[in-house]
Amino acid sequence: MSASYQSGRALSSEAASTWAAVVAPFVDRRTNTKILDLGAGTGRFSWLFARAFEAQVVGIEPSTAMLAVADREAKVKNLAFAAGSGEAIPLRDQSCDLAWLSHVWHHIRDHQACARELQRVVSAGGHVLVRGTFGDQLDGFPTLFRFWPATRQICQQLPTIQQTVVVFEANGFVLAEHRRVQQTTSASLGAFAERTRLRADTALALISDAEFREGQASIEMAVAHEHVPGPVIEGIEFLVFRENSIRTSAA
Ligand SMILES: C[S@@+](CC[C@H](N)C(=O)[O-])C[C@H]1O[C@@H](n2cnc3c(N)ncnc32)[C@H](O)[C@@H]1O
Repeated sequence: MSASYQSGRALSSEAASTWAAVVAPFVDRRTNTKILDLGAGTGRFSWLFARAFEAQVVGIEPSTAMLAVADREAKVKNLAFAAGSGEAIPLRDQSCDLAWLSHVWHHIRDHQACARELQRVVSAGGHVLVRGTFGDQLDGFPTLFRFWPATRQICQQLPTIQQTVVVFEANGFVLAEHRRVQQTTSASLGAFAERTRLRADTALALISDAEFREGQASIEMAVAHEHVPGPVIEGIEFLVFRENSIRTSAA
């Protein structure tokens, strides 16, 4: 997936602006915020944050293939990538102000260990921002499910919001916010079909080849009949957890 991820999951310029605006309130431009992008993949958000904010960004990623793609872009001094996983984050205690997990939580095998590690590396009162899809919040993906109905069953198996909150709250965080962010994934159905052709989405990768081909043929047909191109908008869940040790120690 590392080979097709950059183009198959590239952020549209609208989506990049949307997410930079969502994250901006958590970045203190006066103090050179340290951001951990956990499960950074090819680094699309690491690069976005390094460019959008005067922050120090580190992308941690277990896949050497993903890391190789992330690292081959031009170097900038406020961004670094390193090998590691959510269960064993290779950073010092309290070395980050903010941790960002985009479509990573469902990949992590040991959620308790990951939340413990996040509590260790995030400074007191810092935030963990989780962007993703959850098994109990699936109405944000009408286009995907319309053309590839089998992806719904894949997504239903993902951790739920409630399960996720329980894990974070057991490990020193409180849920500060949960909302759905509307993201312009593609400017048109045609542009969306070009992305899906690369099959870089996890749910598309997990359905059968026949199901994938049938869905792709049907979206290509719909594109041929799309007279006025309209954007493909998806609803992505956004959770904010605040490190709670200040409150715990005061209690
Ligand atoms: C869907 S990709 C998301 C990549 C990136 N965050 C983004 O939004 O573009 C999921 C990433 O999680 C990584 N991953 C898998 N298991 C992990 C783990 N235990 N800890 C951290 N990252 C993991 C994968 O290698 C993959 O790069």
